[in-house]
Amino acid sequence: MRAEVAAGSVPVGGGVIVDGVVVTQPVAGTFAAFDATCPHRGCTVRAVAAGTINCFCHGSRFRVTDGSVAGGPARSPLVRLAVEVAGDTLRIG
Ligand code: FES
Repeated sequence: MRAEVAAGSVPVGGGVIVDGVVVTQPVAGTFAAFDATCPHRGCTVRAVAAGTINCFCHGSRFRVTDGSVAGGPARSPLVRLAVEVAGDTLRIG
């Protein structure tokens, strides 16, 4: 397991970045998780805002829904991780 995150800490429509993972909640009660390593050149993505997960190194953006590329230069999506819901705790990876 890569990380544990409180479900209540993940905003609906957004997400959080914790311990090298990104956890998002695209719609209430539905969670997704991704490795926080940007597939462009390996920086750690730094923010989740306005529906995308953003890398500040060169400006790539990835959709909170599935980690797909919303804006380059990255050409590959974020690597998806498993999410297990255990009460109010999300176990990632
Ligand atoms: S390393 Fe993330 S955009 Fe280049």
